[in-house]
Amino acid sequence: MLNATVTIDPAFRVAPVNRRTFGSFVEHLGRCVYTGIFEPGHPAADEDGLRKDVLDLTREMGVSVVRYPGGNFVSGYRWEDGVGPVSERPRRLDLAWHSTETNEFGLNEFARWARKAGVEPMMAVNLGTRGVHEALDVLEYANHPSGTRLSELRRQHGAPDAHDIALWCLGNELDGPWQIGHKTAREYGRLAAETARAMRMIDKNLELVACGSSSSSMPTFGTWEAEVLDEAFDHVDYISCHAYYQEHDGDMASFLASAVDMDHFIGSVVATADHIAARKKSRKRIGVSFDEWNVWYQSKYHETGNPQDWPVAPRLLEDEYNVADAVVVGNLLVSLLRNSDRVAVACQAQLANVIAPIRSEPGGSAWRQTTFHPFAITSRLATGDVLQVEIASPSTQTSRHGEVDLVDAVATYDDDAGDVSVFLVNRSTDDEVAVELDARAIGPRTVVEAVGIHGDDLYATNTESNPDRVVPQPNASVRLDNGRLSAVLPKASWTALRLSTAS
Ligand code: AHR
Repeated sequence: MLNATVTIDPAFRVAPVNRRTFGSFVEHLGRCVYTGIFEPGHPAADEDGLRKDVLDLTREMGVSVVRYPGGNFVSGYRWEDGVGPVSERPRRLDLAWHSTETNEFGLNEFARWARKAGVEPMMAVNLGTRGVHEALDVLEYANHPSGTRLSELRRQHGAPDAHDIALWCLGNELDGPWQIGHKTAREYGRLAAETARAMRMIDKNLELVACGSSSSSMPTFGTWEAEVLDEAFDHVDYISCHAYYQEHDGDMASFLASAVDMDHFIGSVVATADHIAARKKSRKRIGVSFDEWNVWYQSKYHETGNPQDWPVAPRLLEDEYNVADAVVVGNLLVSLLRNSDRVAVACQAQLANVIAPIRSEPGGSAWRQTTFHPFAITSRLATGDVLQVEIASPSTQTSRHGEVDLVDAVATYDDDAGDVSVFLVNRSTDDEVAVELDARAIGPRTVVEAVGIHGDDLYATNTESNPDRVVPQPNASVRLDNGRLSAVLPKASWTALRLSTAS
């Protein structure tokens, strides 16, 4: 058994817990929309064709904000195809995912779904094949109350009230050569700046996200952010980060330490944004919109099938998540919380079926993947302020991230309620870790909850026929004595503790 210490003190605060950390993403991709959140005729569908079982799971997961409609999809999308009488909506080729888009689901359906799910909508505009004009049109259609052609059209389409969408992404991953309308950083930066400037003429309070890099391994990473912000700094609020992790060639040690890369990614983007601020002699701070993050077994994804086939809602990217994936997702949330002073929005990609915590079958059931659990528990327990955590941990050598701590942690503290939450990860596959948590500066008196995800079989998954094979387990080792807590973290595990100052 290894040993580690974790010290928390309410004097050292990072920032208030930002509810937008617990975002998700719905793209017109595979079965995320069709037979995911939307399936008219399904036994659990409501009057709008929305799956109530998936809505229930979305609420249970504690999702706060949902990005829509893409992703790569948005770079060829015509938003107006998805509004108005369904029978008149065109079927189109979706080049991004080699599918047929029926457009049965569009902006107003999404806004209705978001209301029912209790989430804030976050819209992306197409800056791949389109530009300023169409971004203004969709903004006017969505947000202008009434009295103009587009706002009246929305009202005729059965949405009398403006959708009041505050968060807008200015395109998607335009640094990527796979993106329809791929651009250089200067080309994109100019377009983002002009689109943002014009959108603010409609509503100066919008929160606008410029595209950052599609991953920190892009050859243009760093330069892209600097050049885009050089053009668009004054006009945008946030710059996006996208990151997907997977176990490569059996290298579990590196995979379990994926959050080290996320920390590095956020730190590099923040440094770049602040460098541009310094050059512009500005005190403005650009936030990070980590609007795509997850575990994704990208190496398993190959475009297959007959190029003549353009299927509707095909099974794409339906990754089945295991125990190790859930531990990594829990650790990525630790990283996002730790960086709450700069991470303004974060969206796990995606919500249903497509690299998703929620799975559903057409005409069948919906269930929680392993990765559902750390997200739901963190969203429920992270309250108040994020605290800086002092960790003394044994370390290990990894091939992708160098030497890394085996224990990672973050804590939150809600003074008013007297609640302390601590989220801990043991990245060792060989050893349990005995953790001593020194919380004397807060003085918790009771352990309200101690649960975690771990298991002898790191590759165990939840399936339609066995949906609860991997569920959170109570951690019975936890002891609390005079503000000092001891707990044993199982091998390769994620653990959440809720302590209270009430007796
Ligand atoms: O989330 C899946 C895809 O990953 C998105 O469409 C794209 O933005 C990213 O490359």
